[in-house]
Amino acid sequence: MTPELQELFTFLAFPSVSTDSKHKQDVLSCANWLIEKLSGMGLSTELHETPGHPIVIARNEHSPDKKTVLIYGHYDVQPADPLALWDTPPFAPEIRDGKIYARGATDNKGQMLAHILGIEKTLKEKGKLPVNIILLFEGEEEIGSPNLAPFLEKHKQDLACDIIAISDTGMVAPNTGTLGYGLRGIACAEVKITGPARDLHSGLFGGAVANPATAVAQLVASLHLPDGTVAIDGFYDEVRPLEDWEREMWAKVPGVKDEDFLEVTGSPALFGEPNYSSAERTWARPTAEVNGIGGGYQGEGSKTVLPAEAFVKLSLRLVPDQEPQVILQKLKTHLEKHCPPGVNIEVELGHDGKPYACDPHSDFGKAAQRALKATFPGEPMLIREGGSIPIVQAFQDILGTDTLLLGLALADAQIHSPNENFPIQNFEAGIRLNQALLEELAK
Ligand code: BES
Ligand code: ZN
Repeated sequence: MTPELQELFTFLAFPSVSTDSKHKQDVLSCANWLIEKLSGMGLSTELHETPGHPIVIARNEHSPDKKTVLIYGHYDVQPADPLALWDTPPFAPEIRDGKIYARGATDNKGQMLAHILGIEKTLKEKGKLPVNIILLFEGEEEIGSPNLAPFLEKHKQDLACDIIAISDTGMVAPNTGTLGYGLRGIACAEVKITGPARDLHSGLFGGAVANPATAVAQLVASLHLPDGTVAIDGFYDEVRPLEDWEREMWAKVPGVKDEDFLEVTGSPALFGEPNYSSAERTWARPTAEVNGIGGGYQGEGSKTVLPAEAFVKLSLRLVPDQEPQVILQKLKTHLEKHCPPGVNIEVELGHDGKPYACDPHSDFGKAAQRALKATFPGEPMLIREGGSIPIVQAFQDILGTDTLLLGLALADAQIHSPNENFPIQNFEAGIRLNQALLEELAK
């Protein structure tokens, strides 16, 4: 195994699950490992405690005549559950068929280490970097980065930069340079419906009182029209329409045809807003999704119960120029208006993040395209992303800097799912890409 892969294996072995307080120490150990790695490369490092998990910063020696590039990544991972569905344990990385299997292999440790090792390689080859570098790695991306925006506010001056680069997004097809210039935003909410004081016998009381699970089902059903359009009043008011060049470009992007979506998802059919392709639906249109729903008896067999309460967890994906707080209020109004009689409704608004879009044809965008072209065959694909990295718009709002998304995540990487994986090929290309990127951004 190469020393680079060995290091990735070490990085992946930390169960740095940010959402689970059981893993607080593991997240910290992972941050400390990074500090050691980055100091070992001759960079100056800082470990910043936060009310949650620490932020890791590293810098080379800055000189005023060089451009300053900030690279962001996250060293926290999603929980590995359901464990039984992994072919090998999530925190014991293993290579099969040229792919590294582990939680975080793609999202985001593999991609993040490619940044670090690209820098290390350039330092070894040239003795110095062509740019001033600021590495900013957080341990809370998967829980909505609650402490990063305040950190940016506080350290605005120290973090001032000309451009930001992130590899935490998609590559449309293997060995295909992909420049992301947009991300969807997100807004989460949880609805709790309560009814009778306790679970009831559904024969003795069913028909006489409203059933909270039925109410949840009615609310969920009220969110969409039968054709898949979101039915919340005013939901689409601020949606920026797709540009013609985007539709034309995206129609030619490999790996994201409707057939590809069918294959990658394993769904029996595609479904979504009429008159948009799957790529357009996921990259440029907002949605309302049920992430979890529950209430009543979940065990084996039947139990004739009328549940005292039921819930649904929702997330909305947003696109420019929707404002998460505005949309959440519209959602709340919608839910309260559509709640059937006989139950109580509580809507708890959760975390949110703004959508993002920048111009891929800017000077830095062109530099990123040249780096991608030097690393991968053919012209780079310009895409927006369906997923969210909420801090990216905060970078723009607080630091005033745009972000280039140099994605290495393949559609079948199983991020957030069992058997997450990252091809060795992507890891190695990512290292080369980062070397080229620094050279091109310096021009
Ligand atoms: N790396 C992903 C986001 C991503 C993946 C964007 C692939 C584009 C392509 C990130 O780690 C993630 O999962 N973000 C969460 C954000 C949420 C928890 C606030 C998401 O999108 O659900
Ligand atoms: Zn993720």
